[in-house]
Amino acid sequence: MKTEQASPLCGRRVLVAVSGSIAAVKTPLLVSALIKAGAEVRCLVTTSAAALVSPVALASLSRHRCYLEADQWDSASSRPLHIELAEWAELAIVAPLSASSLARWSQGAADGLLASVLLAMEAPVIAAPAMNTAMWRHPAVQRNWLQIQDFPGVVPLLPMSGLLACDRVGDGRMADPALIQLAAASVFSRGSGAPVANRDWSGTSVLVSAGPTQESIDAARFLSNRSSGRMGVLLAQAARFRGAAVRLVHGPLDLPEAWLEGLQCTRIETAAELSSALQVALPTSEVLVMAAAVADLRREAAPEGKLAKLELPAVLSSGWTEVPDLLSDLTRQRRPGQLVLGFSALTGDDSQLLERAEAKRMVKGCDLMMVNPVDREGQGFGNQPNGGWLLGHGWSRKLPVMDKLSLAHRLLDALLNAQDQAAASALLES
Ligand SMILES: Cc1cc2nc3c(=O)[nH]c(=O)nc-3n(C[C@H](O)[C@H](O)[C@H](O)COP(=O)(O)O)c2cc1C
Repeated sequence: MKTEQASPLCGRRVLVAVSGSIAAVKTPLLVSALIKAGAEVRCLVTTSAAALVSPVALASLSRHRCYLEADQWDSASSRPLHIELAEWAELAIVAPLSASSLARWSQGAADGLLASVLLAMEAPVIAAPAMNTAMWRHPAVQRNWLQIQDFPGVVPLLPMSGLLACDRVGDGRMADPALIQLAAASVFSRGSGAPVANRDWSGTSVLVSAGPTQESIDAARFLSNRSSGRMGVLLAQAARFRGAAVRLVHGPLDLPEAWLEGLQCTRIETAAELSSALQVALPTSEVLVMAAAVADLRREAAPEGKLAKLELPAVLSSGWTEVPDLLSDLTRQRRPGQLVLGFSALTGDDSQLLERAEAKRMVKGCDLMMVNPVDREGQGFGNQPNGGWLLGHGWSRKLPVMDKLSLAHRLLDALLNAQDQAAASALLES
């Protein structure tokens, strides 16, 4: 039975601000998704945005009136609207963020309702710019974009490359609404539930593997496992939202395509391809998170063409060899200071499971190991919450069952702690 999990956005107050880019036509999708996730949403449009997307549509989707620039000067208001909205919101999302609104924000100009709200916000702000490639690459825009990233609580979502409304193919496409929603959920998934958006992973390069590997049985069939890739991809995005430079090596995923935006991705199929992609990236990474579920067996050469059903038993029962232990190989190759988090899917009762997991952590040589019991109802594979134990050198901690994005943040916190401890002991030894 699948259990419904509450979204981290449930009951949270989110202000969605729209400025004058044609990408504004996608914002209603974001508003609708936030409402479905249980958030309370208010919308605000600049005068240019109101010409591109209907304030009536935003009001209907958010179940609340949509604020216009002119509302700031409504004499019936007893408090300035921009202060009311900035104090009400636990998170603001500017999607799309136009070049003009970016310029006003970066320069500290409070001309208009959106500009005033942005200066009055003390809670986190997700910024999703969208514009023509030449505009985006202009030094003035790049300067302003860099500037706002130093403002406290800003989560910058870099525009993507693609076909733009001006018919040009290049950088400038607004981050996908599904990714913006994920960034919003991430803000509410850290720690005690208060919105958090600091970039404590800035300057760290993280290598993550995710998803299953597949080994061919014949041209039509393969051997694989039930991994969806969700845990690894959420870890990768959570680290990226926290400022890390993330490289993701992934097998076939059962996830929204948009969740890969902003990550440097390498797609693989087999364990051998996974191994070589990780070997290439490991030397330039400070942290390795090995969340991929590697298939256990492989054949040197799969039969050509599709086998007949009758031929399958013979092929399935011979010619398979064990896939080498990739995690052990990688931990042996790492240089001092590189941290490794491994994952282990186990079954059995708690004490057996912990004993086997600690033995596994030692053999594989990882600093931290997350142990998932995959035989318990309502947790484990796919779109389900997850929990288990986190094991380190000589300690284990129970992790209660929680949504995978919250768990990703817990694991990133533990990795930061381990990094600090490793740095402190290196200092003592020197
Ligand atoms: C059809 C149309 C599309 C536009 N698309 C963009 C865009 O994608 N990005 C952008 O920065 N400006 C775009 N502009 C220009 C802005 O709307 C203009 O700079 C405006 O002053 C932005 O003001 P605002 O930030 O207050 O909404 C577009 C203008 C028009 C007429």
